[in-house]
Amino acid sequence: MKHFSKIETNRLTLTKLSPDQAGDSYVKWLQDPEVTQFLELRRLKPQNLTDIRSYINKVNADETAMLLGIFDSSNQIHIGNVKVDSIDYLNKRCVLGLFIGEKSYWSKGLACEVISGVTEYCFKVLKLNLVEAGAYASNKASIKTFLKSGYIEEARYRNYWEFNGSYDDHVVLIAYNE
Ligand SMILES: CC(C)(COP(=O)(O)OP(=O)(O)OC[C@H]1O[C@@H](n2cnc3c(N)ncnc32)[C@H](O)[C@@H]1OP(=O)(O)O)[C@@H](O)C(=O)NCCC(=O)NCCS
Repeated sequence: MKHFSKIETNRLTLTKLSPDQAGDSYVKWLQDPEVTQFLELRRLKPQNLTDIRSYINKVNADETAMLLGIFDSSNQIHIGNVKVDSIDYLNKRCVLGLFIGEKSYWSKGLACEVISGVTEYCFKVLKLNLVEAGAYASNKASIKTFLKSGYIEEARYRNYWEFNGSYDDHVVLIAYNE
């Protein structure tokens, strides 16, 4: 995404992630089953720094995506990522996903700050009509976070994800610009 500088929330700074900002903590997050249990990347082979950096380069080269690092504004520590992709200027919509890898930062309302800040950017700067997110139905924290950030549950697809030897529903969450 060209011309993007940063999004600031109360406690966080979101900036375009560059490959050199990925460090050992990023590798550790992707190896933590508690972090990845509801993410499709849990199915990937174990990711090393080279894999992660080439992923960042790939997304950064995509004109329809923006990958932002989530940084603690008080100490600049990288705590996770948020990605907007499938940006469609004709139909005026996009898809948002995030993870906070540093678990000591969970349950402090930070995901709500990220979602609200990025969604506002999508509406006010990108002028989109809607932002879509999706979650495994078992991912109660994620669903609660999106609902608290103004999203509504717009659909639920049954048995959508293979999950722990069974199947989990997929919850479609939408924020409308209205
Ligand atoms: C899901 C995630 C983004 C939430 O981030 P967070 O900063 O901890 O979220 P918040 O603090 O803004 O809110 C979490 C809410 O969920 C609640 N919650 C946490 N675990 C829960 C559970 N198992 N059941 C129900 N609610 C839960 C918290 O109590 C909190 O609610 P509250 O503010 O009313 O107390 C974070 O845990 C994460 O990155 N997880 C791993 C990756 C992931 O699942 N990403 C989302 C993919 S759709």
